[in-house]
Amino acid sequence: MKIAITGKGGVGKTTLSGTLACILSQRYKVFAIDADPDMNLASSLGIKELITPISKMKDLIKERTGIEPGSSYGEVFRMNPKISDLPESLSINYDEEGNLKLLVMGTIDKGGDGCICPASVLLKALMRNLILKKDEIVILDMEAGVEHLGRKTAEAVDLMIIVVEPGLKSLETAKRIKRLASDIGIPKIACVINKSSNETEEDFVMKKLKDMGLEVIGSIPRDENVILADMEGKPLIDYPDSAAFKSIEKIAQKFLSYK
Ligand SMILES: Nc1ncnc2c1ncn2[C@@H]1O[C@H](COP(=O)(O)OP(=O)(O)OP(=O)(O)O)[C@@H](O)[C@H]1O
Ligand SMILES: [Mg+2]
Repeated sequence: MKIAITGKGGVGKTTLSGTLACILSQRYKVFAIDADPDMNLASSLGIKELITPISKMKDLIKERTGIEPGSSYGEVFRMNPKISDLPESLSINYDEEGNLKLLVMGTIDKGGDGCICPASVLLKALMRNLILKKDEIVILDMEAGVEHLGRKTAEAVDLMIIVVEPGLKSLETAKRIKRLASDIGIPKIACVINKSSNETEEDFVMKKLKDMGLEVIGSIPRDENVILADMEGKPLIDYPDSAAFKSIEKIAQKFLSYK
């Protein structure tokens, strides 16, 4: 199962991605992929070490694509680099059993379709390989856009989650993401409400999402434990009694029933 988590900036994508990855890895092998240029999935998992994103691994990019990142355009490079060994060799083992692996992608070139640079070719190939070939659970912590997934990869994402918080701004982003996601062929889209402080806020978002034709598969309340975990550099799974964690557990159960 491949789950992509998206939504407006700051709505709680990384918190949800990291916590889901932890929960699901208790039963399955999970690849957690940080596909957001502003990478912080590692810290939401409580990993403190600095991780070099794949997009910055110059030697690797050169070895696999044939040219050095940043060298002049026009040089011929391999558009189909070998990457099948990379998900395993580049990922960071989160637990001793190796059930949760983290891959930090780094910035994917956003120059549009016309722009091809060695780093983006490698990252795209890697993403394709992970999404299309692996039978594990893959959780993608994404930035708001979904364009960089590409049509073929998008079809292989089973579920796109849009995280929404009380307020029109994140609802507008949700609308835009929904359109993009259906344009590129993502088969299933659903929403998670995050950070509502009371029922009025939750009902507000719920109604708006319904009007947009979006299904809601869970709601995570505003919870100071999330902030506490963040301040202490700990994963939310270390706060198993918190309301936020418990609601994410419920969401995880729903995903499993989609399988
Ligand atoms: N349910 C919640 N209750 C309280 N605070 C929350 C909750 N969810 C997330 N936060 C806080 O909101 C901030 C943003 O969360 P997070 O980093 O998960 O969002 P994001 O969507 O990944 O952000 P970005 O767009 O910057 O990647 C963090 O400080 C986090 O601690
Ligand atoms: Mg984030």
